[in-house]
Amino acid sequence: MILNTELEYKGNLFPSKIISYKKNLDTLAFTTDNNVVLHVTVVRDSVLRFRYTTTGIFEKDFSYAITKYASRGYNLLEVTEDEDKYIITTAKLICHISKADTRSAIFDAIDKSLICEDELGFHWEESYEFGGDVVKMTKTSHTSEAYYGLGDKPVDNNLKGKRFENWVTDSYAYTKETDPLYKAIPFYIGLHSKKAYGVFFDNTFKTNFDFCHERRNITSFWAQGGEMNYYFIYGPDMSEVVANYTDLTGKPHEMPALWTLGYHQCKWSYYPESNVKEIAAKFRKLKIPCDAIYLDIDYMDGFRCFTWNKEYFPDPKKMVKELADDGFKTIVIIDPGIKIDPEYPVYKEGLENDYFCKRADGPYMKGKVWPGECYFPDFTNPEVREWWSNLFQELVEDIGVKGVWNDMNEPAVMDVPGKTFPDDVRHNYDGNRCSHRKAHNVYGMQMARATYQGLKKFSYPKRPFVITRAAYSGTQRYTSSWTGDNVASWEHLIIANIQAQRMCMSGYSFIGSDIGGFAEQPNGELYARWIQLGVFHPFCRTHSSGDHGDQEPWAFGTNVTNVVRKFIELRYQLLPYLYTAFWRYANEGVPILKSLVLYDQNDPQTHYRNDEFIFGEKILVCPINEPNAKGRRMYIPRGNWYNFWTDEVVEGGQELWVDADFDSMPIFVKEGAIIPKYPVQQYVGEKTIDEVVLDIYYKFGKESSLVFEDAHDGYDYIKGRYSLRSFNLLGEETELYIQQHKSGKYNAPFETFKINLHGFPFKISKIKIDKEEFLFDDIKVNSSNSFVVNKDFTEIQIM
Ligand code: GLC
Repeated sequence: MILNTELEYKGNLFPSKIISYKKNLDTLAFTTDNNVVLHVTVVRDSVLRFRYTTTGIFEKDFSYAITKYASRGYNLLEVTEDEDKYIITTAKLICHISKADTRSAIFDAIDKSLICEDELGFHWEESYEFGGDVVKMTKTSHTSEAYYGLGDKPVDNNLKGKRFENWVTDSYAYTKETDPLYKAIPFYIGLHSKKAYGVFFDNTFKTNFDFCHERRNITSFWAQGGEMNYYFIYGPDMSEVVANYTDLTGKPHEMPALWTLGYHQCKWSYYPESNVKEIAAKFRKLKIPCDAIYLDIDYMDGFRCFTWNKEYFPDPKKMVKELADDGFKTIVIIDPGIKIDPEYPVYKEGLENDYFCKRADGPYMKGKVWPGECYFPDFTNPEVREWWSNLFQELVEDIGVKGVWNDMNEPAVMDVPGKTFPDDVRHNYDGNRCSHRKAHNVYGMQMARATYQGLKKFSYPKRPFVITRAAYSGTQRYTSSWTGDNVASWEHLIIANIQAQRMCMSGYSFIGSDIGGFAEQPNGELYARWIQLGVFHPFCRTHSSGDHGDQEPWAFGTNVTNVVRKFIELRYQLLPYLYTAFWRYANEGVPILKSLVLYDQNDPQTHYRNDEFIFGEKILVCPINEPNAKGRRMYIPRGNWYNFWTDEVVEGGQELWVDADFDSMPIFVKEGAIIPKYPVQQYVGEKTIDEVVLDIYYKFGKESSLVFEDAHDGYDYIKGRYSLRSFNLLGEETELYIQQHKSGKYNAPFETFKINLHGFPFKISKIKIDKEEFLFDDIKVNSSNSFVVNKDFTEIQIM
């Protein structure tokens, strides 16, 4: 018998004292006595990267999350030292690195206050099972510190007191507190003393986060392998933290085509063709706007991707064209599992080219999904992604499909304990070969990326549309997403609201939930209340598992249909407003939905709020979360707000009862806002828009608003063919000025704005438009507080 007396469990290991320091451009390298190396890279004045190795050598620096387009560069980098520490100073931060053990403490460079400090700091445990280390970090938490972010976690906004795992998982019918779900976004925000910072732990292994759960004043994060590799992102504004995280991990590569922001209808499944057409026709007949209809797995032949069931869909090209003629874009599902079938070309190609994932000892990774036994492409191989992208040619170029829905890409495997691949499966990882332990969390992301590449290629000159279920940080560059298999319950309406806000706070704004719930069936009231919330989510789609009954807007009787229509119409009216918010997201990383804490972090009342959020920049929304409600109490953030329905002005900074009968919901508009609206259309592009409404809400003081427009699809906007209007409003006691500045080369087809005036404290007698004076009575539309102006006015003065 051999007894190995050398192998002992060493427990937590720590860096010892620093024995050397070297500066190489933006990277400071500290080496300790026990061979730990810490690299601190100054990415920007407010962004520091910390990277540790315990063996003296680093692995190749590779990340799927960090985009090559991330901004880099700083104004100041100074390194000094005293007896016990190195001091790194940038224009925004001061970072101390302790000479005794590499622990860091980070301060605001301006007021010198402490922002974030290591407790034990970096430490690790050697893993004899897998090799490598379990890498760990602990930091001290400040009194009353709050925590946010982390992707799709279905818990209250503030994460304090909780512990989480990131391991993307197919979580059918999850509940509040289920963890983990479909996404791994290892990014959180800490907020204390009115200052916010973020930590992005770019490690794709299974990661855990603990926010003062195990120990009252300690926050920690750790991973089952890989490097301790994290970015510290300073605000102090939370919106800056989110924008910088989004800059680092990427903004959407292009604006979405405007139709993708319309309403989408989905079910598992609409088939045969006659059923699809019936559904589509009913939308038009009932005049409920809708832009997209989805084909779930049953459109395929035996669930084989890139095939059609010819019995249900004898002529897909013709059907897709007929739907398109009526304004419907067809979106089809594509899953990763490729059916093992020697007669099936995709399977054959995959096999011939060695594109499928294999187990450690050689055989293919075989798993059961909808088609039965399948092999799975290794999407972490660039060659496989290229192949996969080309498989979309027929669907998109020939048949005319406008979007692809990637599902089951955690990857989900049926009838096995872990519901996914075993750990030993091998992946290419873009040439950095590894096991599934490292590739699991990015598998779905790389699948969606490959799909995106295909859609981009074959939809050209139109913009691609992809939706994914699984995601890792950075997936937002390629695709929209939804929150997976939720349930038709009031609790899930609450969860959907928080998840959408949390995803937006985590850099992923193109997000929505299965409206009405995927599993089980909502009653009409729940469905209508969910639509009311859903029309304020960046991605707006009803979807259901279908085996519990119908979930179309008309499935619950006329009352419900009318409410649903009213709110979908409102979404279509607000499309230019939403599109502008999307542009700010794609351009500057500003989240489309803002939780109240993100909107006003200096008001401590916002720190624990879940229900209320800001849609875009100026609209405050709060869903009704329970049956039989005639309204609800909600918190109105500081400032003055107009009730959207009544124009009554309320003062914020307090909780109020707000009436909201079944056909209404609490919506407020910030005073001074200028909100653009399109006419209601049954689908984007149905009408030539010949007039845009501007709703102007009086404010005593200043406010500015933006309106972004372009051709609503295509790439001309990248060449400058967009129109960005910035409106500056200045309200005085008996006057209001609006100035317009326009940039960009796009000339929208409409000629005039119809201006609706809300809440003026004085009686309007005269209006001056670009120095020409009119009596208000002479230019009013239908004797209301409206008038029409040329879209290119530069100044309006209302007296
Ligand atoms: C998964 C998806 C769901 C889809 C179903 C069938 O459960 O999350 O949206 O309808 O698979 O494809």
